[in-house]
Amino acid sequence: MDVLLTGGAGFIGSAVARRLVGAGHRVRVLDALLPAVHPSGRPPGLPDGVEFRHGDVRDRTTVEQALHGMEAVCHQAAMVGLGLDLDDAPDYVGCNDLGTAVLLAAMARAEVSQLVLAGSMVVYGEGRYTCAEHGAVAPGPRRTVDLDAGRFEPPCPRCGAPLAPDLVDEDAVLDPRNVYAASKVAQEQLSSAWARAAGGRVTVLRYHNVYGPGMPRDTPYAGVASIFRSAVARGEAPRVFEDGGQRRDFVHVADVAEANLAALEALRGRDPGSVRCYNVGSGSVHTIGEMAAALAAAGGGRAPVVTGQYRLGDVRHITADSGRLRAELAWSPSVSFADGMADFAHAPLRGV
Ligand code: UD1
Repeated sequence: MDVLLTGGAGFIGSAVARRLVGAGHRVRVLDALLPAVHPSGRPPGLPDGVEFRHGDVRDRTTVEQALHGMEAVCHQAAMVGLGLDLDDAPDYVGCNDLGTAVLLAAMARAEVSQLVLAGSMVVYGEGRYTCAEHGAVAPGPRRTVDLDAGRFEPPCPRCGAPLAPDLVDEDAVLDPRNVYAASKVAQEQLSSAWARAAGGRVTVLRYHNVYGPGMPRDTPYAGVASIFRSAVARGEAPRVFEDGGQRRDFVHVADVAEANLAALEALRGRDPGSVRCYNVGSGSVHTIGEMAAALAAAGGGRAPVVTGQYRLGDVRHITADSGRLRAELAWSPSVSFADGMADFAHAPLRGV
């Protein structure tokens, strides 16, 4: 298949490029080389045969030219992370939503009808919990007064009792809690509107916390795995926020690349106008404190420090059920948490 891969110079995108080429697809990368993650302004080494185009997905002419001769789009280009403050909002919305809208309009004109969209687990907000008394509940945003007092667990919205975190599935209500999350919801909704109007087929891959070799170094836009990995490399203790009990699912970038390949190859068999979402997680839940400890131990670094700090936009737990991806696309993760973190502790990071 001839595939336009947006964001193909990035951490996840370049792993997808390698996997698609390895499976025999022809790949054209379009990447803006955003300075936050490409400080040198040069693309990373891409596999032989990948055509690289430097350009912004928000630019109509660039996208039109990049789509020429393509059969499908794998849309990874995005600004990620929690960011610094609300001054980041226009950039998140510009890169993620305006960029997606420009791409979708161009795809409709060019009659390219197959799309894999890089989504995120953050669209679920606080996710799914069970109250012993009230069953499945969806807690509201955490309150500053609770966070300041060190009460990090969201209580039952009906009785205030402690909750047990659960796995969220793809049919859960979307409930973004920060600007980045809102921009990822909008990307999905724009893609869905495009599918309906243009007879397109969309597969959304809602990534969990992706990590692995080539991850960008620590910046306010970097994931926690990269921040801890960089701290260990500097001989510093990883600084764990809240009480370290936040639950996440760390999925290796090679497994995410494999999910993209499976999603792309399954698009052909889908009905025009259809949208299908998949959670992409390893299925193995760990706390942020455990992840910090695993990285520090494997890297021979200092033990983590639990700081009690918090970031208002963070959700407490996000853990997904990735059963649909396994069942429908025959995907399964190949890298365990223990092996992945041991390797990541010594893997090269990107940039700076
Ligand atoms: C991450 C990704 C997001 C992705 C989502 C998928 C980033 C920045 N965020 O969101 O793009 O869509 O996974 O689920 O890549 N923490 C610390 N110490 C630090 C920094 C963070 O303890 O120095 C904690 C945070 O408080 C939070 C957890 O680590 O509880 C995860 O943080 P982070 O990786 O930034 O964001 P996610 O919400 O998991």
